[in-house]
Amino acid sequence: MTDETLETVLTENRVFEVPAEFAEHARIAGMEQYLDMARQATQDYEGFWAEQARQEITWSKPFSQVLDESNPPFYKWFADGTLNVSYNCLDRHIEAGNGDRPAILWEGEPGDTRNFTYAELLEEVGKLGNALKSYGVEKGDRVVIYMPMVPEAVVAMQACARIGATHSVVFGGFSAEALKDRIEDAGAKVVITADGGIRGGKTVALKKNVDRALNEGCDTVEHVVVLQRAENEIDWTEGRDVWFREIMERESADCAPEPVEAEHPLFILYTSGSTGKPKGVVHSSAGYLLGAITSMKWVFDIGEDDVYWCTADVGWITGHTYIAYGPMAVGATQVMYEGAPTVPDPGRLWSIAERTGTTVFYTAPTAIRALMKQGDEWPNKHDLSKLRLLGTVGEPINPAAWMWYYQVIGGGRCPIVDTWWQTETGSHMISPLPGAVPLKPGSCTLPLPGVMADVVDEEGNTVEPGSHHGGLLVLRRPVPSMLRTVWGDDQRYIDTYWSHFPDQYMYLAGDSATRDEDGYFWILGRIDDVINVSGHRMGTMEVESALVAHDKVAEAAVVGRPDEVKGNSIFAFVILQGKREDEDLEALREALRAHVTDEIGAIARPDEIRFADALPKTRSGKIMRRLLRTIASGEEVTQDISTLEDENVVRQLQGKA
Ligand code: WT7
Repeated sequence: MTDETLETVLTENRVFEVPAEFAEHARIAGMEQYLDMARQATQDYEGFWAEQARQEITWSKPFSQVLDESNPPFYKWFADGTLNVSYNCLDRHIEAGNGDRPAILWEGEPGDTRNFTYAELLEEVGKLGNALKSYGVEKGDRVVIYMPMVPEAVVAMQACARIGATHSVVFGGFSAEALKDRIEDAGAKVVITADGGIRGGKTVALKKNVDRALNEGCDTVEHVVVLQRAENEIDWTEGRDVWFREIMERESADCAPEPVEAEHPLFILYTSGSTGKPKGVVHSSAGYLLGAITSMKWVFDIGEDDVYWCTADVGWITGHTYIAYGPMAVGATQVMYEGAPTVPDPGRLWSIAERTGTTVFYTAPTAIRALMKQGDEWPNKHDLSKLRLLGTVGEPINPAAWMWYYQVIGGGRCPIVDTWWQTETGSHMISPLPGAVPLKPGSCTLPLPGVMADVVDEEGNTVEPGSHHGGLLVLRRPVPSMLRTVWGDDQRYIDTYWSHFPDQYMYLAGDSATRDEDGYFWILGRIDDVINVSGHRMGTMEVESALVAHDKVAEAAVVGRPDEVKGNSIFAFVILQGKREDEDLEALREALRAHVTDEIGAIARPDEIRFADALPKTRSGKIMRRLLRTIASGEEVTQDISTLEDENVVRQLQGKA
């Protein structure tokens, strides 16, 4: 965090009161009601969450224990209860007479559309559940899902939940190499994929990546289920590969939901951290589901008349909680879109919103900034008058983008919920409740009821709101929806999240933040070696290891550089094995970018690569990352560089020598 960011956020003082019209129909209306809930949670933390869990989840066997803290930080919630998540997302709506309610309104980039009611979705889920069982997938087995943004991706996740299998969705933009690492770490028995996905008029060769991953290892995988989507040509391994639609045809839709313990791992989702190896964040069944449901209701104020649309990919946590589970669990109608937001023109999202009558729209600041750059004429061509609530997630939103979203997209009448949370927290932690909390552009405002968020100093003492100091963002108590461990690495779970403060267990989020006079939270940035690129987390070490895996690279250091659209872009400093003079540097840059894309995926591709003879290091040999960040941003170097052996290196890194 820089003092400058702190300055900028604290000079934003516009306040947007809750529109009376919104408050009138909101589930939680007025500050009093919010404060009342928050107060209840503070006074009786376990009682508060237990009541929510009894109200919102249909249990197979009711729980009697609430929070079990006997073995910190391995917390358990509702541990003696059993439930089935897919039952909660599908059957119970059908049993309540809502089987004909549209669940998914899907649209593909070429303009093809498919809709599913809750009853239709349950049939699909039942068939796939049975098919997975016929391949020997049992409760607790892992299934990797590597799919485009089609309804079958949600079906696959729900089918796993139905039979108690633990899924791990790998974002379709990850490479064969990254896919292989995740399949192996999870020890998956089955991979569910598609021939290809469609984006920006191009085919994303998913099955080909699966083949490559499986050719190099992944010995646990017995079957690959392939959905036909892009109709691109693919290779076929007899006995191992099966067509999605073929197996669905032979299976019965009747698949009893398997009750699982509240703590049973619903899924593993890999995310970047401070080391080169992504961590498999493990989520529970009941606690996770509860966070998804309560936030759908409190933050998205979801109701029967809503058409809800979250533009995330199911490969990220946002697509898990706010596409595959949250909206389903509350019986909402949601829009799902596969494709680029600019095809055939930059009005695509607004055209879909108009046609579907979208009322609640949730996207990332990077998308807002990109579309804002295209000009007002695109949204202005469409009737967006049905919109009543807007949301953002993934990174701080700059006030200019906030204002554009508010005025041009929301017509000045829709509250914006700026939702702070993480892969690890599973659901929203800090966000305005739109009918209750006045907004300030750029602030995620106040914690949800039952979330004990705080900003603390290195000793764990609260940094007073309004003191104009930054600190570490923490959660003082475990919340039901948060991660339970890192898959196969309990120690990493302890070290990363729970070991920062001596003598007390407090969840360290990895962000720095500050609170203003009103107690509003302002997120300042990551405190670890993680870069937020277009709202996605990328570990600098991950990109560095990919770079040094190239035979021409001796050493690499990667930092984030502020970027107008992406939030941050990836800037790599590279030291070569041989002499720089002997290389065609432009060609090598391209080769290195392609190499990183191969190793991880296009999201990790460095935007800029600069070569030098050495990296700046302290006497003790530590890379001077702050100096590199300054250089990457093009700012003047004011740091003390007298410890550097060769000051000329700085000029090289600046591209001046
Ligand atoms: C990190 C988590 C949560 C789903 C998407 C990203 C940043 C997230 C906000 C926000 C400022 C935000 C944080 C956080 N972040 N939401 N509203 N304002 N920063 O999930 O990949 O796990 O990344 O994203 O730095 O730690 P993720």
